[in-house]
Amino acid sequence: MSLTLPDFPWDSLNSHRERASEHPGGLIDLSVGSPIDPTPVVASEALTKAAQAPSYPLTAGTPELRAAMAAWWERQRNTGPLTASEVMPSIGSKEMVGLLPTLLGVRSNDVVVIPEIAYPTYAIGAHVVGAGVVVSDDPAQWPEGTKLIWVNSPGNPTGQVRDISYLREALAVARKLGAVMVSDECYAELGWDDLSVPSLLDKEVTQGDRSGAISLYSTSKQSNLAGYRAALVAGDEALIHNLLLARKHMGLIVPAPIQAALTAVLGDDEHVALQKERYRVRRELVRDALSKAGFRIDHSEAGLYLWASRDEDCWDTVGWCAERGVLVTPGAFYGEAGSTYVRVALTVSDQHAEAVRDRFSA
Ligand SMILES: Cc1ncc(COP(=O)(O)O)c(C=O)c1O
Repeated sequence: MSLTLPDFPWDSLNSHRERASEHPGGLIDLSVGSPIDPTPVVASEALTKAAQAPSYPLTAGTPELRAAMAAWWERQRNTGPLTASEVMPSIGSKEMVGLLPTLLGVRSNDVVVIPEIAYPTYAIGAHVVGAGVVVSDDPAQWPEGTKLIWVNSPGNPTGQVRDISYLREALAVARKLGAVMVSDECYAELGWDDLSVPSLLDKEVTQGDRSGAISLYSTSKQSNLAGYRAALVAGDEALIHNLLLARKHMGLIVPAPIQAALTAVLGDDEHVALQKERYRVRRELVRDALSKAGFRIDHSEAGLYLWASRDEDCWDTVGWCAERGVLVTPGAFYGEAGSTYVRVALTVSDQHAEAVRDRFSA
């Protein structure tokens, strides 16, 4: 017996990676959103101080972490006050994306709704439990039998941001269907041109009623902590209670030193602003390089990617970039609707961002 899952999409980029690596200036990899700048001292110091950890940590998080998470959601995501039982930590947010259907008890005759252009893990989580997947951004199309609905704002790969009225409508439809509405918001601090990115838990959306609603956030991108696996969840108290119970049974616990680091970074907004400024500079360089080379950029109003098209098959665009020593992600990885786009990550050094401009204009 074995679980049958699709191949890992990025493995199919290997031949283009080899081609791009032959460039005399070396490979510039814009195909993954993995941070490259240093982990902030506020995190590494807290981690080191908590290195002595002989006892099992609390699955729900230390009281300090729970208070820091609740304060962060209220301060940064306009949720209104949250209690300690409306928040919990997770081991990065990808495990929540992959495991949420399992942990919520979604079954094989249930439906999971995912965005039309989506991070592949939403579908994988549904496949793991054998649930049906419906691809739709339109709440009016979400079918009976839906048990879990994913929204991702800012979206990966598109950078599209959902506004308050969309989130309100989505939550109302989810409640009517008896489905849990989950919003993956891990790029929320990276709104460009002063754009603010509302949370599903924004009090303008929920009016204080968080029933049936969950939001995920991660410090991987905002704090260069992808290697720590430090993320947070908030929302419906009863759902959080059940998720914690399942996680206690399964041993899905954020390690104690990581809980300490997460507590520290959630109390410090300065390093987040600094990192955002780094990405703003690179975004401008790469965006100009793409525009001058004739790409059209759609959405991309927030997040760590540019969603770019030359109105041709995405694999041709991937090849064009690889010839110039630059690796980008084909939009087809994210669904049929992405097949004429490529996703260009901003997780590069300034030097590489400048080199992209030179290579694309040569
Ligand atoms: C949309 C989305 N959700 C979740 C994740 C997972 O992030 P992490 O597990 O590092 O918190 C990513 C990572 O790229 C992502 O793009």
